[in-house]
Amino acid sequence: MTKIGVIGYGTIGKRVSDAVLLQNDMKLVGITGNSYNYKIEVAKKKGIKIFSADKVGEDLKKNNIYLSGNIYDLVKECDVVVDCTPKGVGQKNKETYLSYDKKAIFQGGESLEVADTSFVAQCNYNQSINKDYIRVVSCNTTGLCRTLHAVDKQYGIDNVHATIIRRAADPWDIYHGPINSIVPVLELPSHHGPDVRTVLPEFSVFTTAMTVPTTIMHVHSVTVDLKNPATDEDVIELFRNTTRIKVVRNSEKIRSTAEIIEFAKDLGRPRGDMPETCVWDKAIGTWGNKLFYLQAVHQESNVVLETIDAIRAAMGFPSAQESIKKTNESMGIN
Ligand SMILES: NC(=O)c1ccc[n+]([C@@H]2O[C@H](COP(=O)([O-])OP(=O)(O)OC[C@H]3O[C@@H](n4cnc5c(N)ncnc54)[C@H](OP(=O)(O)O)[C@@H]3O)[C@@H](O)[C@H]2O)c1
Repeated sequence: MTKIGVIGYGTIGKRVSDAVLLQNDMKLVGITGNSYNYKIEVAKKKGIKIFSADKVGEDLKKNNIYLSGNIYDLVKECDVVVDCTPKGVGQKNKETYLSYDKKAIFQGGESLEVADTSFVAQCNYNQSINKDYIRVVSCNTTGLCRTLHAVDKQYGIDNVHATIIRRAADPWDIYHGPINSIVPVLELPSHHGPDVRTVLPEFSVFTTAMTVPTTIMHVHSVTVDLKNPATDEDVIELFRNTTRIKVVRNSEKIRSTAEIIEFAKDLGRPRGDMPETCVWDKAIGTWGNKLFYLQAVHQESNVVLETIDAIRAAMGFPSAQESIKKTNESMGIN
């Protein structure tokens, strides 16, 4: 049993904690609370041990949250720490993980330098086996890597251009926007292309990005220059047969991000999550050696699967395929 501590209990941390609870080879020691809020109340209701993110946990104690200790006590008790704090905090927390000689998994908001490897299970699991510090790449990078890796293995890729249409904020977030604008990312390439290359360095990837007023999922418009030609039908079949990719069908009236998330809710997925990269069947097309497709990425959940596999890689679990299978089965992904 690998003992896990989750630092930061927000969008990603609460999902990672629930996913750890579903694994038969992992034990959730506890989570850290920073400020008092409804998420901490839910953790308490679930019987999860709560540790304060700072030494004292004044705000939590004041609101009748029983503390099992502080972040240092939690880190001491764990084999692997999963840092799910906001961008940049993980880098600071690393000093604590280093001082207790603990392995840590970081999220995609952290810079590349925080970890030994960047990780997407189905692409490069083996590079992270027994590593002490692993960075699960961002939701967008994860989504791109899953489909591009499958295409590269089957047909070979020369070049990729992708446009990332980003959701403005997570659904609970009342602070960010835009609410009535499309905001281009004025940086070329956007950071996603270089990030994909930290996992898949074999071909060049150029990305552009913009933010739009929605909270449910990112959409990617992808153009791939293939080494060997493909047909639309073959690519649909390839994606159907690749783990963590779901081909969504126009005939089922799944034509939008809204319908994908409604579908996930109807399937009974926890929190209405859709961790698979969803590709629309009617938006897969070929023209000469070019392949085009449109895919949707559920930002709140796709990296959770990867985080569970990254824990196994850190602990030396030898098989990517077996880890992916265990994670998928535990979380109802087929
Ligand atoms: N949300 C996404 O769409 C998404 C997708 C993929 C990857 N990521 C990455 O995942 C990481 C976490 O993002 P998130 O969206 O889950 O953030 P979030 O929802 O804001 O959650 C962050 C959590 O960390 C806690 N926290 C804040 N400062 C802390 C500190 N100094 N020490 C310990 N805990 C602290 C917060 O507590 P309080 O709320 O009490 O301050 C909150 O529980 C980031 O690297 C992000 O880039 C996010």
